[in-house]
Amino acid sequence: MERLFLLCSGLLVTTVTSQHNVCSRPQLSGNIEMSGIQRFSSPGEELALACKEGYTPLSGPRKIVCTINGVWTSTKLKCIPKQCPHPELITNGELFYEDTVYQSAINYTCHEGYMMTGESSAVCQANGTWSSPAPECIPIPCGLAPVPLYGMVIYDKVIRGNTVNYGLKATYICNPPYALFGNPVAECTASGTWTKTPECQVVTCPPPESIERGYMSNNEKREFFYRERVKYGCESPYVLEGNVEVVCQENGKWSEKPSCKAPCSVNLQRARILHNGKKIWIENFQPNRVLHLEIVSVYCMNEARKCGYAVPTQCIDGTLNIPKCFEEPSGVEYTLKPNSLPSEIDQC
Ligand SMILES: *[C@@H]1O[C@H](CO)[C@@H](O)[C@H](O)[C@H]1NC(C)=O
Ligand SMILES: *[C@@H]1O[C@H](CO)[C@@H](O)[C@H](O)[C@H]1NC(C)=O
Repeated sequence: MERLFLLCSGLLVTTVTSQHNVCSRPQLSGNIEMSGIQRFSSPGEELALACKEGYTPLSGPRKIVCTINGVWTSTKLKCIPKQCPHPELITNGELFYEDTVYQSAINYTCHEGYMMTGESSAVCQANGTWSSPAPECIPIPCGLAPVPLYGMVIYDKVIRGNTVNYGLKATYICNPPYALFGNPVAECTASGTWTKTPECQVVTCPPPESIERGYMSNNEKREFFYRERVKYGCESPYVLEGNVEVVCQENGKWSEKPSCKAPCSVNLQRARILHNGKKIWIENFQPNRVLHLEIVSVYCMNEARKCGYAVPTQCIDGTLNIPKCFEEPSGVEYTLKPNSLPSEIDQC
């Protein structure tokens, strides 16, 4: 009576029982299998080994023999799992896998806005092929963008047929006098629908307001439509400041209207001034008028260097400030010694 356990290269365990010279059925590991179903073998009998389904023999003898001692010969047979080909990347999607051997799996997903045609996963089969080909990710289509009444749609790209792809944008325009309310840009979403379509609504402005000292190109007392324009002008010698034209805006209000600015007079009795590059005695400055934003210069005296210099001043809506350095001469000085005035002596 003896009991013996033999470990052969970790792959094959043979148990020998009390029956002398008889090998009992070997216990196999490492994905090895054998043919036949008999429980005992006599010395000299051979047993063919093979790799299990999905595994390939790498090396080692494929047979074991029952020896005279009732022990199977050892085997160094190695079975390795079959390899499936490496999967290729898919466009507009991703794949996840850890290995490409028998029984490993690949999971596929599509990017947002794309839907899958085909299987979302594949398994490496016993014959080294994947259970299904890679799926395709195709864009989720939207129908054409809805067109609002009195408006139109301009797509970002030329479209064919009556579907468009995820991510396409459309810009809306309303035909004046209709104005657009809402987001002017809509987009084909991942769920195959368009974002909110804006509306085209009629917009009117009240009659434009008149301006003081000015006139308008249109005095009709009616409602004006969105984008209608009216021009303004000023009576001479008033000068228009701001935009010549106002427009009825989307919010039902006119854009900012201009105003008419007053001219100035040069309030000096005795002086010579510089206006538009010309030196003029004040009594000859007729009419005594400087338009809004126009510049005139008066002459001041540099006492230290005994020279004269021109100082500019600007007319701002009826106000012309005379520079502080200006000193008006006395009547006697002005009449009898005009050559000594700052405007007449050497300039600094
Ligand atoms: C594939 O998906 C299955 C089921 O959702 C999951 O159990 C498995 O871990 C995934 N495999 C990989 C590699 O992502
Ligand atoms: C591989 O095995 C699968 C499943 O048994 C079978 O459908 C397929 O035709 C086999 N492919 C090849 C190339 O043998």
